[in-house]
Amino acid sequence: MLVTVRITSALIDPALLDLPWSTPLEEWPADHLVALPQGISRHVVRFVKLAGTVYAVKETGERVAEREYDLLRALERIGFPSVEAVAIVADRHAPDGEPLDPVLITRHLQFSLPYRALFSHTLRPETMARLLDALAALIVRMHITGFFWGDCSLSNTLFRRDAGAFAAYLVDAETGALHAKLSNGQRGEDLEIARVNIFGEALDLQAAGLLHESIDPEVVSEEVVQRYERLWHEITYEQEFQREDRHHVESRIRRLNEMGFDVAEVAMSLADRGAFKVRPKVVDAGYHTRRLLRLTGLDAEENQARRLLNDLDTYRAESDLADEQQAAHRWLTEVFEPVVRAVPGHLRRKLEPTELFVQVIEHRWRLSEEAGRDVGLALAVQSFLADVLVHRPDEQAVLGVEVTQAVS
Ligand SMILES: Nc1ncnc2c1ncn2[C@@H]1O[C@H](COP(=O)(O)OP(=O)(O)OP(=O)(O)O)[C@@H](O)[C@H]1O
Ligand SMILES: [Mg+2]
Repeated sequence: MLVTVRITSALIDPALLDLPWSTPLEEWPADHLVALPQGISRHVVRFVKLAGTVYAVKETGERVAEREYDLLRALERIGFPSVEAVAIVADRHAPDGEPLDPVLITRHLQFSLPYRALFSHTLRPETMARLLDALAALIVRMHITGFFWGDCSLSNTLFRRDAGAFAAYLVDAETGALHAKLSNGQRGEDLEIARVNIFGEALDLQAAGLLHESIDPEVVSEEVVQRYERLWHEITYEQEFQREDRHHVESRIRRLNEMGFDVAEVAMSLADRGAFKVRPKVVDAGYHTRRLLRLTGLDAEENQARRLLNDLDTYRAESDLADEQQAAHRWLTEVFEPVVRAVPGHLRRKLEPTELFVQVIEHRWRLSEEAGRDVGLALAVQSFLADVLVHRPDEQAVLGVEVTQAVS
């Protein structure tokens, strides 16, 4: 039987045509599917593997699919942390001619976990705090770029480990809209939606006995707003200072960089009595990520990048290399890569390389504290592999992993 479908895609992968498009997604045979932890959703979502890449396939309405596809592409162009749209498959029909819903295909975000897969028994306060931090930072970053989400929730976010914290990614852009700039009213509305959604999610967890008893749903949903407000204020507030205190501007920019934000320009105006008013224009987050990428070609999350850069800077100081680029190259080939290569094949899917390296340097620090002397990198690597990594669950796209197994 000839199956005709209409595929909209920037990347035409002929393998896409081989999927059983004339069958509703819900009934797809298991041999096409990959079992991966998945968040709660209204639509049917399945994961498939084609030529070594895992994709998420979501059955949805045609207009909705197009909107989400365009938005995700736009977000990708500005380097925003979201899943990547791959294709829309429309004009699907069952063998009896009955029309089937179009699907949106996105690339599966490697090493990502839905929030429900981040805890095994109950969601504990510390984990909740780290989730909310990551989410608040994602919304701030979103609003800086003029993106209105319209459906911010824990279920519409994916989390990746980031050196002891989490990095959040947008997974569901269906309700979003990209503007040149957001008004305070739009930001407030988006936050209110986030608050109500998170309140509901926390109530659901509580009802299912999955929320630690010390967590109050109302408090945590308020808290995401407060975390957002604090961060927003910190990066946008107008500062007034005297002419001779110019260095305050510089320290403000440094502090913003330290928090991961890039400052494009500083708007200055004259205030009373010769004072200046200054407001920095923060263009994007990802300050350390970009510096690391520029120096080493490594693509890491913000906190990971900060740690890796610390290690690189220490290495550069110790080896007395003046040239930053040269030091970065030597560090990459003599320090970073040997550590990653030391991981035997069967353990490679447990942590992504940059997170692995960060955890190894932390392990080294802990061992050295215990020993009262520096144990050295080589020993730390061996100890980390043998005593820590083997006991970790696989976090990459793995076949047949139950959600409960994907928990640390
Ligand atoms: N590219 C992807 N990578 C990893 N996981 C994904 C991806 N796309 C979807 N998922 C998983 O599927 C879940 C549902 O996806 P999504 O939120 O887009 O659908 P939905 O909830 O039905 O949409 P809506 O929120 O509009 O009802 C997500 O929470 C996530 O766990
Ligand atoms: Mg969703």
